[in-house]
Amino acid sequence: MEQKRIVVGVAGGIAAFKACTVVRQLKEAGHSVRVVPTESALKFIGAATFEALSGQPVHTGVFENVDEVPHVRIGQQADLVVVAPATADLMARAAAGRADDLLTGTLLTARCPVLFAPAMHTEMWLHPATTDNVATLRRRGNVVLEPASGRLTGADTGPGRLPEAEEITTLAGLLLERGDALPYDMAGVKVLVTAGGTREPLDPVRFIGNRSSGKQGYAVARVMAQRGADVTLIAGNTSGLADPAGVEVVHIGSAAQLGAAVTKLAPEAQVLVMAAAVADFRPAQVATAKIKKRVDDDSAPSVELVRNDDVLAGAVRARADGQLPNMKVIVGFAAETGDANGDVLFHARSKLKRKGCDMLVVNAVGEGKAFEVDHNDGWMLSADGTETALEHGSKTLMASRIVDAIGALVHR
Ligand code: CTP
Repeated sequence: MEQKRIVVGVAGGIAAFKACTVVRQLKEAGHSVRVVPTESALKFIGAATFEALSGQPVHTGVFENVDEVPHVRIGQQADLVVVAPATADLMARAAAGRADDLLTGTLLTARCPVLFAPAMHTEMWLHPATTDNVATLRRRGNVVLEPASGRLTGADTGPGRLPEAEEITTLAGLLLERGDALPYDMAGVKVLVTAGGTREPLDPVRFIGNRSSGKQGYAVARVMAQRGADVTLIAGNTSGLADPAGVEVVHIGSAAQLGAAVTKLAPEAQVLVMAAAVADFRPAQVATAKIKKRVDDDSAPSVELVRNDDVLAGAVRARADGQLPNMKVIVGFAAETGDANGDVLFHARSKLKRKGCDMLVVNAVGEGKAFEVDHNDGWMLSADGTETALEHGSKTLMASRIVDAIGALVHR
């Protein structure tokens, strides 16, 4: 991505130290970063730290370098403003349209996407004053992240933790790629996402697995949650991905466990996104003790496989039988290669028909494509015959386009 001008606003909270990692990651992605802390942020982290990390001067007030009119210029020139952490006080001032320091002045003059990453105690986050301010900021097109749940400053826990720096910079990258704000259009929608690969056990230490990294499904869960959905993620094996903020994660191992989790949770859901790479077969027998090679015998054992249930097709059937009255949209994923019978889209069209889902997201796979990489492209095929190409971009950008399409189906 070309170099962008990013303003990182830092408000005065204990999580201000995490802003250092945010600045570093955005710099490493090749962007120009200007840090604008509040006076209180500097009680936690010194200006010298932010100056050294960003390579740019750090000011907090509107009466420094007045000849350059920084409270107007910094906002006008920004491609993105990220406020991390955004305290209750900072969001109250931003919602009220105050301009009593350089950061709030910058927020008033910025015309680019603005991302707030809140961090505060649970009571402050849940207070109606904060809820109203967050709603006001969202209504104006700002993105206000869901805070993570977990340990806060003291011994207490609850929603209010600053999401990990990686989560913040991933969503910052998404806003730059999209070039527009992320709509807050899935509030109250219950979404079930499966992601990652299943592991079919052979014995207590071995399994048959696959190369799915889980990145695409995690990105869908992350973007859904940040657009307001109530998301449960059924996670198989992934490449060590962190739980997305604001998402309930259920970890599973085998295809049978994934199927059981979907059966249990699907009746509540309005949207099911089957991004998991579910094994079609499992070993017929699972040895209770580790399978040993024999010293006196060179022969290799053979493994008999049996079919696993098709979870996606099962959900489509259950809905047709009236067992999933809330379910509005079922999305399948397919990783395809072309062969002598037809190209990727030919196979995808027949898979969409066979599975009977509302939408199929298709990737072409092969060396260096789709699996384990961060960038991807593909198509979305809908049951009504619409075919939309997904532009090449990060898996988070693809997820946001997929959620755009799901949103249109949910709200039709
Ligand atoms: N899927 C599923 N249960 C399975 C296998 C696949 O729910 N036992 C889902 C996947 O999560 C995905 C979709 O079905 O959303 C397509 O997966 P894919 O492996 O491409 O489909 P298959 O029917 O297994 O087709 P193929 O014969 O091409 O492997």
